[in-house]
Amino acid sequence: MTREPELIVGLDVGTTKVCAVVGEVTNEGVDIIGVGSHPSYGLKRGIVVNIENTVQSIKSAVQEAEHMAGCEIRTVFAGIAGGHIKGISGHGMITLRNREVTKRDIERVIESASALLIPVDREILHVIPQEFIVDGQGGIKDPVGIYGVKLEAKVHIVTGQVTAAQNLVKCIHRAGMDVADIVLEQLASNEAVLTPDEREIGVVLIDCGGGTTDIAIFAGGSIRCTENLTLGGDHVDRDIALGLSTSLAEAKRLKEKYGCAMVDLVPPDEKIEVTSVGGRRPRVISRRELAMIIEPRMEEIFSLVRREIVKSGYDRLVPAGAVITGGTVIMEGTVELAEKVLGMPVRLGMPSQVGGLSDIIANPIYSTGVGLVLYGMRYKGDKKIRIRDENIFKKVFDSMKNWFREFF
Ligand SMILES: Nc1ncnc2c1ncn2[C@@H]1O[C@H](COP(=O)(O)OP(=O)(O)OP(=O)(O)O)[C@@H](O)[C@H]1O
Ligand SMILES: [Mg+2]
Repeated sequence: MTREPELIVGLDVGTTKVCAVVGEVTNEGVDIIGVGSHPSYGLKRGIVVNIENTVQSIKSAVQEAEHMAGCEIRTVFAGIAGGHIKGISGHGMITLRNREVTKRDIERVIESASALLIPVDREILHVIPQEFIVDGQGGIKDPVGIYGVKLEAKVHIVTGQVTAAQNLVKCIHRAGMDVADIVLEQLASNEAVLTPDEREIGVVLIDCGGGTTDIAIFAGGSIRCTENLTLGGDHVDRDIALGLSTSLAEAKRLKEKYGCAMVDLVPPDEKIEVTSVGGRRPRVISRRELAMIIEPRMEEIFSLVRREIVKSGYDRLVPAGAVITGGTVIMEGTVELAEKVLGMPVRLGMPSQVGGLSDIIANPIYSTGVGLVLYGMRYKGDKKIRIRDENIFKKVFDSMKNWFREFF
């Protein structure tokens, strides 16, 4: 009898596109066997604002992925992002009943670290342990079996607006699927683009999409800080449309075809043609003119990222520099501009660590989708703990997990 292949599906509901990625679990890891992508019309700045449009985009992306993979998609790991997400640090402490740390003690200390006053309109999406401290001795990753009297835990807690998550889940249900988990996008994409070494020595991950720029800082093998900006490639389109008096669609086309994030990198004599609005004749402009519109906005985005890094206190603690991903960073000159503004080494990150359709998915727009598959694979069987019993949105968040990241 042949065994049914084990499939894990990531669904990235982004501001510009919805993409579904089907992964098949293999002995070596995971093979990507289907990808479906469809423009997204129901989101603004990472948040669902139109249910029906979002459902249609999800259905189209999923159908395409099902077709390619030759399977039926029933359950997905879905990514969540947007300005409503907040990451905070937490600290928990308990006394050890039996003088030796057990798994149950770890659950208790993490629960105590998460027992903060979370407003009713916010929900805990992730509780990620960073380190454990036994009787004042810190830096412990797995304290099970260690003798002591007092156990402390430092954790990173990610909360999101209940309604934003609710709307996302509603769209996925309406599209006919279940949600295995809702995952902060940075927690997913890092799985696809960062190396374990980078996470260990310290790195900033920047996912610059259409409507949002998500930031995550990793050090010592664990996530330290998450932030997001409601700025992305769509803002560049708007600037171009205004600056060149053209439509948004033409602005986007020009950006994707001829855009450059650094004026100095464009040869002075290159010309491009711009379609005008209102039936006027197309115009010819220099490509530098286009770059002159793009550069200030991209510079603004990376300056704001830099500000968040400094605010986090990790600006000198990320020797591996920054890894940039997301569709917007495909633009020529982005790595160079990011290096200049951030003042650190920068590399372009795109999905690796997977087999199968690796040619198709070797594109920064698929980092979150592929990352969701890898995240799903890593955590699918994990133990869940529920932090809030009085949950007003119990059914959904029962499935949300608070991971004991890499500790068991
Ligand atoms: N070749 C290219 N050059 C410049 N920009 C590009 C290119 N290809 C795609 N983009 C831009 O990337 C953005 C989309 O990126 P991505 O697919 O990562 O976003 P998203 O996940 O849908 O959005 P978000 O993560 O913000 O919700 C768009 O602004 C698009 O114009
Ligand atoms: Mg995205």
